[in-house]
Amino acid sequence: MPSRPHKLIPPTFSRTPSLDAETVELAVAIELPEGVEAIGLAVAPVVDEDADDVPSALGLDRAALKRAGFTGEVGQTLVIPAQDAPTYIAVGVGAPEKRTAAVLRDVSAAFARAAGAFASIGLDVSRSFDVDPASAGQVITEGALLARYRYTELKREAKHTPLAALHLVAGAEDIAATASGAHRGEVLARSANLARDLANTPPSHLTASDLGDVALAVGATHGLAVEVFDKDALIALGTGGLLGVNAGSVEEPRMIQLRYTPKDDSGAPIEATGHLALVGKGIMYDSGGISLKPSDPMHASMKMDMAGAGAVLAAMTALQELGCTSSVTAFLMCTDNMPSGSATMLGDVLTFRNGTTVEVKNTDAEGRLVLADALCLAAEEEPDAIVDIATLTGAALMALGTKTAAVHGNEQGIVDQALASSKATDEPLWQLPLERSYRKQLDSDVADISNMGGRFAGSTIAALFLADFVGDIPWAHLDIAGTMLVDADESWRPKGATGYGTRLLIDLAENFTAAR
Ligand code: BES
Ligand code: MN
Ligand code: ZN
Repeated sequence: MPSRPHKLIPPTFSRTPSLDAETVELAVAIELPEGVEAIGLAVAPVVDEDADDVPSALGLDRAALKRAGFTGEVGQTLVIPAQDAPTYIAVGVGAPEKRTAAVLRDVSAAFARAAGAFASIGLDVSRSFDVDPASAGQVITEGALLARYRYTELKREAKHTPLAALHLVAGAEDIAATASGAHRGEVLARSANLARDLANTPPSHLTASDLGDVALAVGATHGLAVEVFDKDALIALGTGGLLGVNAGSVEEPRMIQLRYTPKDDSGAPIEATGHLALVGKGIMYDSGGISLKPSDPMHASMKMDMAGAGAVLAAMTALQELGCTSSVTAFLMCTDNMPSGSATMLGDVLTFRNGTTVEVKNTDAEGRLVLADALCLAAEEEPDAIVDIATLTGAALMALGTKTAAVHGNEQGIVDQALASSKATDEPLWQLPLERSYRKQLDSDVADISNMGGRFAGSTIAALFLADFVGDIPWAHLDIAGTMLVDADESWRPKGATGYGTRLLIDLAENFTAAR
């Protein structure tokens, strides 16, 4: 099939900044060096009216800050205009008892955004936090790098100032630990920003085959074995779900398999502490197919329907650098979902990888169709657990909003591991039930199962469909339809694709323990 027969534009997703390592200089020292353009200093809310605890370098006292509307709460910043460089910024750190690592990440994000006009910035706040130095270095770096992310690939003139250098202050005895934490933070933020780039890229600029090329490129530089399955290979594998969703498209589908195996310093494989399988929904664009979506803003965000696959791919790029000791196998199920004369019709029946026949009652419930084949393939490897991540249902968005994703699972141990990682990374996740008595809604008159249930509990119904394909392997399903995107800047999430789940999956892989 000719590539992009209907497109006049070349693919622009070639090498974006976040694919290139180390574009931001990170430095930790006992004080900030000359040349730092903007300096953030911690200011707490008033506890004692008489105590003058505002850093003198700000040149303002408590009353002046207050008149400018700055009280020291988390998220608040005040840029102090001055004739000469550097520019000082008051950074609210909130009440002492609330100063967790997650709050420090927020504080750093607020500062980095307030210092948005400056390329070289320095933050002196970690001594106000009772957070261990490695974690402090990590979350400050994450907060700043995530907050300063912008998708600029298609702008002829980008109006923002990219971050070039981030300087941190730490006590002499904490410098080494802070710096190693900062390095971790950089790997985590770089990965999440890759996921954002992938999701922000318009659909014609990042097709399923393009994503295969990206996976081959990043796999080669991040120690992953990558195999890309084209349409003929998928026919041979019998992935009728992925092929059925792809049937209406002029673009070929791709299944991308990535394997990470722990190795020692010499590059020799070492015995893994567990085997985790990850599955990502990679709908490059979801028009709904024959069950066409209305042309509303929700539809217009459907270039991000591959955010699950993007998060998995991005997470995989971090494992070698962070020394993950489990082996991880990933399956990305990639195609767009288009209406056309060749599209799958309502009432059609598809045969999946494990032989299950599925009646398609709604072509817009396509995510579960592509995921099911991957779950079969993942289960065939008999991993210790399977975790899938998908922009699967509007119901998850309706239930939990844009901040919190849903998790369903067939075994509490792996669900709990996902919830623990969610806490560690501040990517909120909430468990919803896998209510087995609803399964009969998926019964079909003509096939083994249908892809549509009733009107209620949409994310549970979708999860029940998926549960049929994992057998008895411990499995957790993350529905990120709500969290894939934010409409406005908010802490470390700039407007647009969030990269949600990338850091969570990295944390999960790093801390993974087999339940059995
Ligand atoms: N990709 C959508 C889900 C989605 C909705 C993601 C909003 C992000 C924001 C998914 O493929 C879909 O269309 N789901 C349908 C399923 C229904 C037809 C059973 C839905 O949720 O409406
Ligand atoms: Mn859909
Ligand atoms: Zn979809």
